[in-house]
Amino acid sequence: MNDAIKTPLQGDGDFRSDECVEILKKADIIATNPPFSLFREYIAQLEEHDKQFVIIGNVNSLSYKEVFKLIKNNQLWLGHSIHSGDREFRVSPDYPLNASGFRTDEQGNNYIRVKGVRWFTNLDYKERHEDLILYKKYTPEEYPKYDNLDAINIDKTKEIPEDYKGLMGVPITFMDKYNPEQFEIVGQMATTKIDDFNFGYPYISGKKKYARIVIKNKRLQDGN
Ligand SMILES: C[S@@+](CC[C@H](N)C(=O)[O-])C[C@H]1O[C@@H](n2cnc3c(N)ncnc32)[C@H](O)[C@@H]1O
Repeated sequence: MNDAIKTPLQGDGDFRSDECVEILKKADIIATNPPFSLFREYIAQLEEHDKQFVIIGNVNSLSYKEVFKLIKNNQLWLGHSIHSGDREFRVSPDYPLNASGFRTDEQGNNYIRVKGVRWFTNLDYKERHEDLILYKKYTPEEYPKYDNLDAINIDKTKEIPEDYKGLMGVPITFMDKYNPEQFEIVGQMATTKIDDFNFGYPYISGKKKYARIVIKNKRLQDGN
């Protein structure tokens, strides 16, 4: 990376400042670990400036209305190298070490472990187009429908039945396996705020389930 350019900042480095926006405009690809609490705003800024990007976020950010809309439209997806577990991040010496796990190396650098992180990107990669291998057959007993949507419930992504044509609710981590040629994302069942693509939290026989993404198998639709 001998040709890397480091730009000293005059201001405080807020990504919304004019100075940072001017630098953003010149960038070809943005690779960063933005503040999770401002994730929506950060993504919106990248979209507004039509940038290619690969950024770190929490997997739960998928269900934010603004983020989910991009996911549904195939303008944003999860990146390649992180699909489970936690990841270690180096932090400044004054960072409070109260994360789920932390360590200090021989040089005195502090690291924290953060759960549920993923790459969020609009850069394509080969593995994103590989089919998830399905092996289960649909039975109404094993895959009950929701009280509040005509869709079957699936608790584990690998248990998506290979022969079900209708709507299916899958865990959010389905996104780690999502191939846009194999499945269509129809909406989500997350949060209580119902909108065009959010059918509200899923219920089965009156019992609330975890958030779900609602999908359809493209290969089983007529004309395919
Ligand atoms: C998830 S941390 C990542 C830190 C660093 N990029 C790294 O990889 O070690 C997010 C960082 O964004 C900074 N931050 C918070 N609000 C910001 C803003 N409005 N503009 C720019 N950075 C901000 C925080 O201080 C924090 O250091």
